[in-house]
Amino acid sequence: RAAGTPVVTTFAELTTTRVGGPIAEVVTASTDDEVIAALTADAVVLGGGSNVIAADTPFTGRVVRIATTGIEVQRDGDRVLVEAAAGEPWDDLVAFTVEQGWSGIDALAGIPGLVGATPIQNVGAYGQDMSQVIASVRALDRASGAVVDVPAVDCGFGYRTSTFKREPGRWIVLGVTLRLSRTDVGEARYSELARHLEIGVGDSAPVGAIRNAVLELRRAKGMVLDETDRDTWSAGSFFTNPVVSEDDAAIVPGACPRYPADTGVKLSAAWLIEHSGVAKGFRLDPASGAAISGKHTLALVNTGSARARDLLALADAVRERVHTAFGIDLQIEPTVVA
Ligand code: EPU
Repeated sequence: RAAGTPVVTTFAELTTTRVGGPIAEVVTASTDDEVIAALTADAVVLGGGSNVIAADTPFTGRVVRIATTGIEVQRDGDRVLVEAAAGEPWDDLVAFTVEQGWSGIDALAGIPGLVGATPIQNVGAYGQDMSQVIASVRALDRASGAVVDVPAVDCGFGYRTSTFKREPGRWIVLGVTLRLSRTDVGEARYSELARHLEIGVGDSAPVGAIRNAVLELRRAKGMVLDETDRDTWSAGSFFTNPVVSEDDAAIVPGACPRYPADTGVKLSAAWLIEHSGVAKGFRLDPASGAAISGKHTLALVNTGSARARDLLALADAVRERVHTAFGIDLQIEPTVVA
C-alpha cells in the first residue's frame, strides 16, 4: 500500500459470509451518543455481521459499527434484570448468565452476533426465543429522533420478526433488558435437545448442561462459527421456516417436519430444500465458492472464493427448486444490503 492511500474496508471483512464490496466510510461508535451522532440519513448499522449479505458493488454510504459495551444486573425477587448494551457479544452474555446460575437464554448459546440484533429478528433456537425473556428494548426511533424504552408487549414479536424488523431503517437498538430466572435449572423444550440430554421433552436440566448440549448440536450442524472450518462461514439459516395454511401444509409430504405456529403451520425449510433435490454440499457450479453447507441444508456457505452474487444466485436456485417441488415460497432470512 502506497503511503497516503486510504485503507478501504469491505463488507467481506465485516460479515461472517465474507462477501460484499468496499464501503465508502466506516464509523465505529462506542457510546450511544456516538451511535446517534454517526447516523446520517444514508447510514447502515452493522453489528456482528452474522445476518447480513452485502452486495459486491461499492457501498457509497456510511456503515456505523456498534461497539457499545456494558452489562448491568439488578435483582428482582426470584428474577434478575440484565441490561446489556447493543454492542456486547451475544454468546458472551449467554455464557455469563449461565455461569451466574440464571436460566432463560441457556439454549441460545453459540449464536453469533451482538446483543442489539437479537430482538430485531426475535432470535430463537432449541425452544427459547428472545420474546420469552425480553423485558424492554432501548432504541433510537429515527423517525422522531427520540430514544425510547419499548416494553416487550409493544415489540410485536413473532417468529423471526418484530416491530423493529417490520420497519426497516427506523429503529436502532441501543440496549436490551432481559428478565431471567435466578435458578440454575432450565427446561429442555426442543425434542432434539431433550434427546441429546437423554431426558424427556419438558424435563429439567442444569443450565450449564443445556448450554453445552446446544453448543454440541449447533457445531454438528455447522452453526457455530469456526475460523478454520469454511463449512461454518455462513449467516446461519439462510431462509425462515415457511408458515403456511393447514390446507397448504396438507399437500406437503407427511415426512416433512411441521410445528404449530400462530398463523398456521410452520414447515421445515431444511427438509423442503433437501427433498427438492438440493443435497448438503450442493453447488450450482463446481467452480463456485458458494455452496449449501455440508452439515445443514439451511446454511449457505462461502467456501472461500464466493461473491455475494454467487450466494444470491444459489439462494434463487434453491427457492426455485423448492417452489417447483412443493409450491412453497421460501423467504430469505438475513438482511440484504444492496
Ligand atoms: N433437516 C433436513 N436436512 C438438513 C437439516 C435438517 O432435512 O440438512 C430437517 C430434519 O428433518 C430436521 C428438521 O429439518 O429434523 C429441522 O432441523 P433443525 O432442528 O436443525 O431446525 P431448523 O428448523 O432447520 C431452526 C432455526 C435455527 C435453530 C434451530 C434449532 C430457523 C430458520 N432456523 O432450524 O436457527 O438453531 O431451529 O432450534 O428457524 C438461525 O435462525 O439462523 C438458526 C440457525
